Amino acid sequence: MPVFDVATVRKDFPILGRSVRGHPLTYLDNAATSQKPLAVIKALERYYSEQNANVHRGVHLLSEEATTAYEAARGSVAKFLGLKDTSGCVFVRGATEGINLVAECWGRTHLKAGDEILLTHLEHHANIVPWQVIAERTGAKVLVTPVTPRGEVDLVAFKGLLSARTKLVAFAHVSNALGTVNPAAEMTRLAKAAGAVVLIDGCQSAAHFKVDVPALGCDFYAFSGHKTFGPTGIGVLWGRPELLDAMPPYQFGGDMIRKVDFAGTTFREAPERFEAGTPDISGAIGLGVALEYFMPIQAAAHAHEQVLLAAATERLKAIKGLTIVGEAPEKVAVISFNIEGGHPHDIGTLLDADGIAIRTGHHCCMPLMKHYGLSGTARASFAFYNTLEEVDRLAVSLEKARKMMA
Ligand code: ALA
Repeated sequence: MPVFDVATVRKDFPILGRSVRGHPLTYLDNAATSQKPLAVIKALERYYSEQNANVHRGVHLLSEEATTAYEAARGSVAKFLGLKDTSGCVFVRGATEGINLVAECWGRTHLKAGDEILLTHLEHHANIVPWQVIAERTGAKVLVTPVTPRGEVDLVAFKGLLSARTKLVAFAHVSNALGTVNPAAEMTRLAKAAGAVVLIDGCQSAAHFKVDVPALGCDFYAFSGHKTFGPTGIGVLWGRPELLDAMPPYQFGGDMIRKVDFAGTTFREAPERFEAGTPDISGAIGLGVALEYFMPIQAAAHAHEQVLLAAATERLKAIKGLTIVGEAPEKVAVISFNIEGGHPHDIGTLLDADGIAIRTGHHCCMPLMKHYGLSGTARASFAFYNTLEEVDRLAVSLEKARKMMA
């Protein structure tokens, strides 16, 4: 494992040096979006100042260089996901677009009345609504696996809900609201045994631990670049190439066609099949650089985050009236909580006055909040560049907030 020194790592992230409302920035909203290392910022600058050209289209040198950099980024994505080749790695805008793409292109052709789509109660809206909409259009039914009071997927119930009618199972690898790490390989194994196609929403896992798609055994895996130290507006949908190639594309334009004739048009295979038009070239290149930056420190970063999680959990639990929502034994460094007598938004505003950024509200998980009888929570979400000193600042500021709200 490479030596991981958080003070050194922080120097790679220029934004961490700024102050907010007269305090050093304490950025604990990483589940919403991560910060970007200088290598990524510089890659974007380099692309636009030295290489900017369209990909796959020009015979000139700039286009060749841009194409090489864009496809190299796809190679980094494949390596990041533990894949041997890039053919199933489609660049999309983010996990949301990836899930919508599968719901639309796979769902439209494979689902019919009587079929079932199995989700879990802790999904983000982006992994609920596309399935609801496609279910309405096809006559399929959405079923929901309950969660336990600690915030784990109820595996017994999950097994019980799987049947020959289950055509698709979709679940988050990690819950954005609670931090729970789902037993994704086991859930995939059970779902596949029932004959279902499996999609995993990897939005909150990719930035925290090694994702090994072949080991998971799923059919689709989606994640967002901006949550994985890359730029906004870029993400990845990986799909089994044989499934992708059998799916009708849903956007049509340049680069995704094989032959266009007014008598009829034929389409290319994945990944180009789903990348109509000029793609987000700089975004993909930036994401590739982010993943190359992250991969060598991934294991050490995870270990560091687990230390932060343990320390923050202990400090927050010692605060009178504070309740942690979601205490699964397997978690990434995300802590959702409420303080008696205080609204989550008030907590967020009071912390902001101390330069601490957290997210408050329903976290795009209204069904999960309803399940717990809550309107929302305050959520501190850590990345590997956070420190124990920042955990301390969070705890001190929360104690102050508690007293002000009492
Ligand atoms: N899905 C992101 C979050 O959990 C935006 O904050």
